[in-house]
Parts: sequence; structure tokens; C-alpha cells
Amino acid sequence: MQVVIANNSHIQYAQIICDTIEESAKQRGTGIAKRTPEYIITKIQNGNAIIALDGDKFAGFCYIENWGHGKYVANSGLIVVSDYRGQGLATAIKSKTFEYSREKFPEAKIFGITTGLAVMKINYDLGYEPVTFSELTDDPAFWTGCQTCKNYDILTRTDRKMCLCTGMLYDPAVKEKVKSHKHKYNGKVFKRLKSIKESLFLKKDNQK
Ligand SMILES: CC(C)(COP(=O)(O)OP(=O)(O)OC[C@H]1O[C@@H](n2cnc3c(N)ncnc32)[C@H](O)[C@@H]1OP(=O)(O)O)[C@@H](O)C(=O)NCCC(=O)NCCS
Repeated sequence: MQVVIANNSHIQYAQIICDTIEESAKQRGTGIAKRTPEYIITKIQNGNAIIALDGDKFAGFCYIENWGHGKYVANSGLIVVSDYRGQGLATAIKSKTFEYSREKFPEAKIFGITTGLAVMKINYDLGYEPVTFSELTDDPAFWTGCQTCKNYDILTRTDRKMCLCTGMLYDPAVKEKVKSHKHKYNGKVFKRLKSIKESLFLKKDNQK
């Protein structure tokens, strides 16, 4: 199995990607933004897609979208062909897409909206956190994608504040802050432990 950045040689899979996404949404009975083969081809041509292949057999896919003039990136359209599910393939595809997004758009907040538990788990492991829709991009083009979802009436009824999907966000600035606090905190704890140990040992030494 290979999980790679898609290139022009993968354009031939655009139709099967769309069909697989649509078919599995029907089976799950959930709403989903419809993708056309043309849209998928553009993603591939712009180097904004990750594809998984078993030999030359299509196994899975995910793509990157850029919103709000590069301030936000969404990793969308995750799909794994049913024969390959339950083996960690979605995790591999999503992780690769995430790493690639971080490289390509290091300052961008990475987000997704989903009703799927598997995707929530994968996102959470990657460092995403659940957020309200107010924390996501307000780029109308992103939300226009929801128009083909069968739950779109809910989104419009709530003025785009909520719907059946859960929003999840990875904010690199917040992550950096947490990392440096953790670092500081660990440093403090370490110093404190060291001083306790030293005083204990010194006491012992003094008693000798
Ligand atoms: C959702 C989907 C991508 C998962 O693919 P997969 O390769 O089977 O996923 P993985 O094997 O990497 O599993 C990832 C995690 O999700 C869990 N998981 C997988 N399928 C699940 C399901 N149907 N319900 C709940 N959890 C599930 C796994 O146990 C694993 O969790 P763990 O790390 O705690 O063990 C795949 O089922 C699919 O293509 N579904 C249809 C399209 C879809 O729902 N796309 C998401 C749209 S937002």
C-alpha cells in the first residue's frame, strides 16, 4: 500500500473517488458535500491531494482546501474503500495530509467538520480540538460546499452557528503556546525535584 501526494498520473482516479464518496454517504445515510470529478482533478493538479493505492487499485483519498486567504486549511473528502477499512488506512492518509498541510501552510489553522466518529478520533489524535462553528473560517465559499448536504436547512436555520457536523480545529499558535508552557512547567517541576533531592542528600551528607 502506498500513501502519496497525488500527481497528474492519478487524474484517472477522479471518477472512482467521487463515486466512492457518494456511495458511502448514501450507505451511511448522512449528509455530505458533493464533489465533482472536475473539482478532484483540480485538487490533484494543484498538488493538494493525498491518494492511497494498493498496486494500481484505488484505496483511499483526502484533499486540502485553503480558505480565508490562507488563514485556514481544511482537510476534507476523506474516503477509504470499504475493503480496506479497519486497518488504519484512514489514519495514515489523514496523518500524511495533516503533515503536508503543516508544511505547505505552517501558519494556517487546520480544521474539519464531520459527523463521523472515526474522523473525530483521528483528528483528536493529531491535536485537533472540538470547537463551535464561530471558530472556523467565515469564508462563504467553504460553507457553500454544504449546500449539497441534506442537512443544509439546519445550517441556514441556525445562521451557520451549528449543524449536525462537529467542527474540529488545530490552531498552531495555541499548540506552540501549550508546548512552551509545558516546557516551562516541566522545567519548574524538574528544578523543584532537583532541589528537594539535593536538600535530602545534603541533609544525609551532613548527618554522616
Ligand atoms: C471513516 C473512514 C475514513 C475510516 O477509515 P478506516 O481506514 O477504517 O479508519 P482507521 O482504520 O484508520 O480507524 C481510525 C480510528 O477510527 C475508528 N473507527 C473506524 N471506523 C469506525 C466507525 N465506523 N465507527 C467508529 N470508529 C471507527 C478505529 O477504531 C480507529 O480508532 P482507534 O485509533 O481508536 O483504534 C472510512 O470508514 C470511510 O471511508 N467511511 C466513509 C466516508 C466517511 O465517513 N468519511 C469521513 C467524512 S468526514
